[in-house]
Amino acid sequence: MKIAVLPGDGIGKEIMTQAVRVLRRLGEDGLRMEIEEAPVGGTAYDLAGDPLPEATLKLAREADAILFGAVGDWKYDTLSRPKRPEQGLLGLRKALNLFANLRPAQVYEELASASSLRPDVVAGLDILIVRELTGDIYFGTPRGISTLPNGEREGYNTMRYAESEVRRIARVAFEAARKRGKRLCSVDKANVLETTELWRQVVIETGKEFPDVDLSHMYVDNCAMQLVRNPKQFDVIVTGNMFGDILSDEASMLTGSIGMLPSASLDEHNKGMYEPIHGSAPDIAGKGVANPLATILSAAMMLRYSLGKPEEAERIERAVRKVLREGYRTRDLETPGTRVVGTEEMGAAVVAAL
Ligand code: IPM
Ligand code: MG
Repeated sequence: MKIAVLPGDGIGKEIMTQAVRVLRRLGEDGLRMEIEEAPVGGTAYDLAGDPLPEATLKLAREADAILFGAVGDWKYDTLSRPKRPEQGLLGLRKALNLFANLRPAQVYEELASASSLRPDVVAGLDILIVRELTGDIYFGTPRGISTLPNGEREGYNTMRYAESEVRRIARVAFEAARKRGKRLCSVDKANVLETTELWRQVVIETGKEFPDVDLSHMYVDNCAMQLVRNPKQFDVIVTGNMFGDILSDEASMLTGSIGMLPSASLDEHNKGMYEPIHGSAPDIAGKGVANPLATILSAAMMLRYSLGKPEEAERIERAVRKVLREGYRTRDLETPGTRVVGTEEMGAAVVAAL
């Protein structure tokens, strides 16, 4: 098995070091893999003038799975858009056709009190957000900033979804719901936007193939509210690229910290890229305080979904639970009575638990 490791920028490097350490520990117990690293994002721009160099894309294509850290830093904000770090990530998603983004949000018992919501609202929460990742306003054209006849500037982006794009993400979500609580909530803004009116129609049509799954619909503004009012009402949520970006950040806070949430981005054949849902956090980069658990848990998802190693995935997840039970916390998770550790110490604790 060949794993492409793309640490990226900011805290990406620190958290990835810990995830690779965990994988190497499994290697000592016989997991056979080859790990190859390549630059992406701002780091790649600094080295090669391109946030997604040809060699990095080639490695990503050849690998059986990709483990991705994070990209972005304020210092690149003045570059032209195609040169910005985020294009490394968006370019990989598009080039590899990674249209299905699975973002589970689970509340570990030990962390229920780290959430900004009351423990009784979040304890035991286990939801899955299925976010479409290669369409929508993120990629729709026309897009740009132009000058109107009166000299005023105008910015514009286009929200678009073809039927086939909606159908394939809906199928992924129905399949996922079938393996869980058999409830799927499709999130749209069908009362205002035609794109999502079509989205809703296609999801309903697709639902006929899945009569055993209970399908409901919710407007995105209501969903944002329901996620903090009563998040346990949800099982699987399916939504478009932009709504999914926003709702998954919101859902992460239910779990105590955005530093806990892994994700998988899959193509039609379950080849995937795995990454924490958080960003590069330039404000804490290099300080050794970032939470590596979302990346470590992303490595577990990678073993399960793309590499056919569910037992190894479970071993990692059990190890993470154990260190939380033992009271280890990075500072994003700090609550009274816990032991605050840095990135490196948290990685070491997971390796020890393994
Ligand atoms: C995410 C991130 C990305 C996105 C950024 C870094 C381009 O926020 O993966 O959620 O908007 O998709
Ligand atoms: Mg996001």
